[in-house]
Amino acid sequence: MISPPSPSAGYVTDVAYLPGYYPFMAPARMRYVASLHGIRPPAVREGFDFLELGCGFGSTLLTLAAANPEGRFTGVDFMPVHTGHIEREIAASNLDNVRVLCADFAALPADLPQFDFITLHGVFSWVSPELRRCVLEIIRRHLKPDGIVEVTYNCMPGWSSLLPVRTLLRKFAGQFQGDSVIRVRQALAVVAEMRKADIPIFHDQPLAAQLVDRLVQADPHYVAHEYLNEHWTVFDAAEVLAMFHGIGLGHAGRLPYHHNHWALCAQPQFSGQFQGADLATVETLKDHHANVMFRWDLFSSRPREAWTPRERAEAAGDLFFRIASPQASLPHTVTYGGVTAGIAGPPHDRMLEVMGSSSWSLPMLLDAPHLAAFTPEALVEAVDAGVAMGLFRVDGGPVIDPIPPAKSLASAALAVPLAFNRRALEREDLANEQVGLASLRTGAGHEIGDLHAVILDELITDGHGGIEQRIAARLARTEKHLREHSTGRPITDPEERAKAVGAICGDFFATVLPELVRQGIVTLAAASAGH
Ligand SMILES: C[S@@+](CC[C@H](N)C(=O)[O-])C[C@H]1O[C@@H](n2cnc3c(N)ncnc32)[C@H](O)[C@@H]1O
Repeated sequence: MISPPSPSAGYVTDVAYLPGYYPFMAPARMRYVASLHGIRPPAVREGFDFLELGCGFGSTLLTLAAANPEGRFTGVDFMPVHTGHIEREIAASNLDNVRVLCADFAALPADLPQFDFITLHGVFSWVSPELRRCVLEIIRRHLKPDGIVEVTYNCMPGWSSLLPVRTLLRKFAGQFQGDSVIRVRQALAVVAEMRKADIPIFHDQPLAAQLVDRLVQADPHYVAHEYLNEHWTVFDAAEVLAMFHGIGLGHAGRLPYHHNHWALCAQPQFSGQFQGADLATVETLKDHHANVMFRWDLFSSRPREAWTPRERAEAAGDLFFRIASPQASLPHTVTYGGVTAGIAGPPHDRMLEVMGSSSWSLPMLLDAPHLAAFTPEALVEAVDAGVAMGLFRVDGGPVIDPIPPAKSLASAALAVPLAFNRRALEREDLANEQVGLASLRTGAGHEIGDLHAVILDELITDGHGGIEQRIAARLARTEKHLREHSTGRPITDPEERAKAVGAICGDFFATVLPELVRQGIVTLAAASAGH
């Protein structure tokens, strides 16, 4: 008897994926977006349950677990190479609020509980239609009534001119021997040759040509998992909205933040297209104006409520807002795709003065005597515009204020209290570009560059003495090259390299370390003269 093919067949499992921290999966970001749309976000203070379906190497799962000890985290993945790594990291970091299940979505344990957050990043577009139905059924059964789902997928119309790249890669990879990484490398070499010859498909579609250039530089494990899965699919947003509607969930917004505002996706003369349009049409239109190729969507079973600013402030009263950068000033201008927009004048000018370097909740802002001249509507609108345009950031809790002066940071003995973060720093071998550290204050991860991570590691293990020489020596022991910022040229001359290391250390003390201290990732001990 022939057994039917498994719904999970066709997914690339012969090579591992690659680790990566995804900030959009932090509960505070999802909760903010839901509240922006009048959807009451799940309460988290007394604890919450978080599920990641297809957690890969678990960088996001583990970072969020370390940053939210009150949360209970579960990761599911069917590749033992991924789940085995996560189990070892859980033990090494002493994390007791996270577990990982090595299981297929099509056969999850019956006793899986219900969750406040269910996330799936890099799954929905890459699995078979049957498995997608399994995933929707898992969500239907295991999302709490107040819960939020976050799902990512490839979408139209951004993929319309890129589809040939996927077709060619898969076609050629099928002709080579070896594992998926070997085959995708060879396939990429062929496609890169075609792109170099400027054949019409690439000449006529410059975005496809640029994609090939990026893929040649990318990690082949990523390229294999992104492009070689048999069931790889691109959706229109409206199709995905309909699928989630089918399990009783409505759209609860999206990330990045600016995608929630049509005026940051489409030029103002097209505003009429959005007036009175239904939600699916608005989402489709925004994607077409901005030529979006990848979506981060949130769904919830809760209705969208027409809140007063006070009700909104109460529903999201435990979210904190702060000025994103100490250099922030007005006018603040952003360009997203074809749209340039800005923030200037009141109430933002006054808010910048009043907010300083502190964290503010919406209730605090609405009650601030120095902002009493503005209506609650204007203040809430200003916060949302600031978040959408990167003037403000959203955290799950307040950061430390005031920041210790730069002089004391440059000499104080530093400590990294969380075992998870110490492990991330110890592990750093300058192979990855970014290192994700967990902040108990923001409830999220915070990424720093790999060289900055090495500087911090050196400072907490052996103090400040000779730090630049020690970093230069550590660099010399690795394959990592310092590169010139503008040209990418490797810096090999020892004198030039010493200067570059000096600049990186300077940047660390001036900008990176103050933020790490504010987020509580690094704490200061007494000053240690000359050490
Ligand atoms: C593209 S990776 C994304 C990993 C992680 N979410 C991230 O963003 O780094 C997709 C993950 O889904 C897992 N996966 C795919 N199909 C699955 C299935 N049927 N059951 C369980 N896990 C699956 C794969 O093993 C892989 O680790």
